[in-house]
Amino acid sequence: MSREKLKIAVLYDVLEDEVADAPPPEPEKPAKTRGKAPRRAKKREKHDREEIFEALAKLGHEPFYQVVDGRDQSLIALARAEADLFFNLTESYAGDDTMDMNLAAYLDLLGKPYTGAGPHALYLAQDKALAKKIFAFHGIRTPFFATSYKGKLDHSHDIAFPLIVKPTSEDGSIGIDSGSVVGSVKELMERIHYIHEEFDAPALIEEYIEGREIYAAVLGNESPEVLPMIELDLSRLPEGAPKIAGKEVKWDKETEHYRVTKSAPAEGLDDDTVKRLSDTALAVYQALKLRDYGRIDMRLTPKGEVYVIEANPNPWLASGAEFAMAAKKAGRSYTQLIGEIVDLAKARYTVG
Ligand SMILES: Nc1ncnc2c1ncn2[C@@H]1O[C@H](COP(=O)(O)OP(=O)(O)OP(=O)(O)O)[C@@H](O)[C@H]1O
Ligand SMILES: [Mg+2]
Repeated sequence: MSREKLKIAVLYDVLEDEVADAPPPEPEKPAKTRGKAPRRAKKREKHDREEIFEALAKLGHEPFYQVVDGRDQSLIALARAEADLFFNLTESYAGDDTMDMNLAAYLDLLGKPYTGAGPHALYLAQDKALAKKIFAFHGIRTPFFATSYKGKLDHSHDIAFPLIVKPTSEDGSIGIDSGSVVGSVKELMERIHYIHEEFDAPALIEEYIEGREIYAAVLGNESPEVLPMIELDLSRLPEGAPKIAGKEVKWDKETEHYRVTKSAPAEGLDDDTVKRLSDTALAVYQALKLRDYGRIDMRLTPKGEVYVIEANPNPWLASGAEFAMAAKKAGRSYTQLIGEIVDLAKARYTVG
C-alpha cells in the first residue's frame, strides 16, 4: 500500500432542496447527515461517506468533502476543486439516479482522477436488459427475460411463470416488493402497468429463480480478486412472501421482512460451487468493464446452477454492508479496504 499522503475529495450527491434547507457542509468536517431522495427511500443510519472519511484520515491522507447538489454552482465548484483523487460516492444528480454516469464522464472531461467505475461501466450495468444481453454473449447464465415499454416488446426466448417484474434501470430494490413476483397474465399486466406509471420506464420481465441469494464482492483491476461469498438469508421471510430482497427487506426497518433477514458470509458451499460462483462474478465484472470494486448479485438454485441477477459498480461501501463484510472475511480491515481502493484507483492515473 502506498504511503504517499494524498488530498482526497469524498465526493457525494444530495438533492438541491435538501441543501437549500441546510447550511453547506463545512470543509474538512463531516457533513450533516441527511436523508436520500424520497424516491430512493434509503434509510442508512451511518453514511458511508463519514466512515470513508475517517478511514482515509487514519491512512494518513487528507480527506475533505465535496458535494454535488443538482445546482450548476456545485458543478463549477467540482471543476475547481483540487484533489489528488476523488473518492466517488455519487449515485445520482439532482435526484436522477441515471445520471451517475454523467458525473463520472464530467470527471473524465475535467481530467480528475476518481475511484470506481467509468461512465461506460455505469451505463452498461444500469440498463439491466442491456447487461443481460452482454452476459448472453459471454455465455454467462442469467434468467431469460423480456422487456416491455408502452406496448413494445423486446425478447428472444419464451419465458415461463413465475416471473419477476422490475424497472430496467433502478437499484436499491426501488420498484421491487412483494407484488413483483407474478404467477398469472393478469398479475403480469398489472405489474407492467405499475412500472410504467411509477417510473415511466420499460419493465424488465424475468424468469423468477428460486434459490439462495449470494453476493460476490470483486476487488481489483489487472487481476481482480473475488472475496468470500456473502449470503442474504431470506428463508425466514413471512409465510407467503416471495423470497426476494425487495425494498422492505433492504430499507423498511419497521417491517418483519427487514428484521428476519440478514447478510453473513455464506456457509456450507463446497469448493466447486464457490469456484463456479467466483468465475461467474469475475466474468461479469470483466464483461461490464467494472473497475476497482464491484458487487455481483447471484442466485444459486437447489440444483447448484448459478444465475446472475445483476452487477453493481461502486456498491455501497458502509462498514456493515456486504462488500466490507466480504473484505473482513478475507482478512482486511475496513481501513485497509478503503486504502486498497485508493491505491487501485490511483495506479490507473500514474504514468510509467
Ligand atoms: N430473476 C430473479 N429471480 C429471483 N429473484 C430475483 C430476480 N430478480 C431479482 N430478484 C430478487 O430481487 C432483488 C432485487 O433485484 P435486483 O438486484 O435486480 O434489484 P436492484 O434494485 O438493482 O438491487 P440493488 O439494491 O442490489 O441495487 C434481488 O436481490 C433478488 O432477491
Ligand atoms: Mg441487486
